[in-house]
Amino acid sequence: TAEATIPHPRWRLPVFGDVFGLSIRTPVQNSMEIGRRLGPIFERNVLGNKFVFASGADMVAELSDESRFAKHLAPGVASLREVGGDGLFTAYNHEPNWGKAHNLLAPAFTKSAMRSYHRTMLDVAGELTEHWDARTGGTPVDVSSDMTKLTLETIGRTGFSYSFDSFTRERPHPFVQAMVGALSHSQRTTFVKSTPLGRLLVRRSDRRNVANLEHMAEVVDEVIRARRDSAEAGPEDLLELMLRAAREDDPNRIDELNIRHQVVTFLVAGHETTSGALSFALYYLSRHPDVLAKAQAEVDAVWGDEEPAFEQVAKLRYVRRVLDESLRLWPTAPAYGREATVDTTLVGKYPMKVGDWVLVLIPALHRDPVWGENREAFDPDHFLPERIRSRPAHVYKPFGTGERACIGRQFAIHEAVLVLGTILRRYDILGDPDYRLKVAERLTLMPEGFTLQLRRR
Ligand code: HEM
Repeated sequence: TAEATIPHPRWRLPVFGDVFGLSIRTPVQNSMEIGRRLGPIFERNVLGNKFVFASGADMVAELSDESRFAKHLAPGVASLREVGGDGLFTAYNHEPNWGKAHNLLAPAFTKSAMRSYHRTMLDVAGELTEHWDARTGGTPVDVSSDMTKLTLETIGRTGFSYSFDSFTRERPHPFVQAMVGALSHSQRTTFVKSTPLGRLLVRRSDRRNVANLEHMAEVVDEVIRARRDSAEAGPEDLLELMLRAAREDDPNRIDELNIRHQVVTFLVAGHETTSGALSFALYYLSRHPDVLAKAQAEVDAVWGDEEPAFEQVAKLRYVRRVLDESLRLWPTAPAYGREATVDTTLVGKYPMKVGDWVLVLIPALHRDPVWGENREAFDPDHFLPERIRSRPAHVYKPFGTGERACIGRQFAIHEAVLVLGTILRRYDILGDPDYRLKVAERLTLMPEGFTLQLRRR
């Protein structure tokens, strides 16, 4: 087939790029809109930076071919390096610390490791219900805020045996404030910093950012130091795996700076996305009484009144489909970059040289025609086993793809299903009938202003 040109929005100004379609606060939803008009591949120009978005099922299948493509650190991720350095998520493919940390930490994400986190996950879910019990029948709870407390607490305790006391403190932990500040700074300034005027404009917030980054480093270094200097053997967590390798001269050992980067990376990557996934799932459950009733019936039947054992979490097949379907419509890490590792042509039409890259727009992939007639609607039956088998591979990518896919996938799924089961068994949840879903975009996607009224069942 002949080469094709990549469509782009009609209005173009030299400096501001596709200014008429540009919305600083919701670039993902904005790109989804453009994709609806222009199709499964298109180009945008944002402040002089050229982006190609691809979301066609055939294109993503090819982009998943690890012999032609690899992870690309798109600008939004590259700017996170000031927070995560060469930690797992933000490492370039060629950086040796990626392979070392990946080898070192892989054992912390096996099934047997998940089993060892189960107790802590139950404890944290118990703190959420204690917090929520006091609010039943009263003022509605802010779902995204409470889910964020829960997921941060879970990764802090399972990964590093560190508690942020999220449910007991009045104001957010200073580390959390610094982290939120640093993340939003890195996202806000990604493009602004590409121009001299922009660099001048963000100077002040840059100074605050340095203070935030320093505070985060201090907290993490203190956790590391306390553990390293402790006479007792530490708990078997992520931190222990990294410190032991350093002690024992393991070939995969990483230095203290990189350990800090990994700790920060896991605290960040391990909570925002799962928090958003839980929030979207609760939103859809509150909007679909039939789905809610079916999910509650499943939890009642499988768990009864007992505390669920590890194996009983994965037995909530329907709750899992609710989670999968929520991540289909709103994959909370909404895009990932892929770059060509050889000169190649995408779907026979779009030539790519080594190093050329595209962004996979996951919410658009998840609405590709292969998902059938009701692809815009929430329907957990999209994930019935026979429906999954009838679809091509590579059409569902909430956790990315290939070697650099999400290491925390099983962790997130176990935690989210456990927490949804806990909530559904204990409460009837009532959304505000006047609420209209508003998706906030920070680093990740999150329902904004979504509250629930709770009633004990
Ligand atoms: C990577 C999504 C939960 C740790 C990724 C990537 C995606 C993703 C799309 C690939 C990014 C890219 O290609 O640039 C999600 C979603 C989650 C979730 C949707 C929850 C629903 C977690 C959790 C952890 C975690 C719970 C840790 C406990 C990581 C790490 C990487 C990663 C370390 C980088 C892996 C590497 O490059 O080696 N995640 N994630 N994630 N995720 Fe997750």
